[in-house]
Amino acid sequence: MDACLHPGQQPQHLEEGPSFRDSRAEGDKQALRTDGPLEDSHEIQQALQSLQKFVPANYASYTQEYYRFAGKKIVIQESIESYGAVVWPAAMALCQYLEEHAEELNFQDAKILEIGAGPGLVSIVASILGAQVTATDLPDVLGNLQFNLLRNTLHRAAHLPEVKELAWGEGLEDNFPKASLSYDYVLASDVVYHHYFLDKLLTTMVYLCQPGTVLLWANKFRFSTDYEFLEKFKQVFDTTLLAEFPESSVKVFKGVLKWD
Ligand SMILES: C[S@@+](CC[C@H](N)C(=O)[O-])C[C@H]1O[C@@H](n2cnc3c(N)ncnc32)[C@H](O)[C@@H]1O
Repeated sequence: MDACLHPGQQPQHLEEGPSFRDSRAEGDKQALRTDGPLEDSHEIQQALQSLQKFVPANYASYTQEYYRFAGKKIVIQESIESYGAVVWPAAMALCQYLEEHAEELNFQDAKILEIGAGPGLVSIVASILGAQVTATDLPDVLGNLQFNLLRNTLHRAAHLPEVKELAWGEGLEDNFPKASLSYDYVLASDVVYHHYFLDKLLTTMVYLCQPGTVLLWANKFRFSTDYEFLEKFKQVFDTTLLAEFPESSVKVFKGVLKWD
């Protein structure tokens, strides 16, 4: 994995183990320890220490942010220095949708791939709900993604999520051979914004879907280009608006690839 570093490159504060910067009151911290990630277990401490080599050195500072979905407290290590190292509004909206519709979605043992997973909140919630998850993103965010996934799913999820590099539109057949694709769901949150890869993103969404695959795409709508992408999306996917979150301008869509 490209994000792998030599020990000497590791940021100092990560070597300090669980003593991350945390502004919460001590009472809150005690409450979180009761059903939060298993930070106190020797096993997870060892696993997290071995994962430190994956955490990219190009972020100078991190914070810990706390979420609650699917009945679990989730701790995400974030850095405002990268788009891919903070949780975006659509990720929270999609997680809310997933937990509220867990029964009908039936993620138990489902094969799921997330594109543009960032710091991993959606993949973590999908894993906690029972899915076999592959979380993908660009190389420089994979270390922090891997760290967050392991931290929140070890001893909690039936299937430990995998992390894999996936740059939209690049090397798809080499890295994700069509013959071996069989995803029940493809997940994507806030992957559409002002960037130059929108066509490659749509190509990737189409590529990853087989007959029977459901694409769940959540996005905050900000720019006219977001709506232009939606129109192109509708040309290739049978599209259903599943939910709207007016307070955050996030919409959640279901897309099933048109096969005619
Ligand atoms: C706005 S962030 C959203 C992160 C996460 N899904 C969330 O909602 O919190 C966009 C994500 O897409 C990833 N990304 C951007 N361009 C990409 C590309 N060309 N190929 C693959 N991933 C890309 C970024 O690294 C980042 O993790």
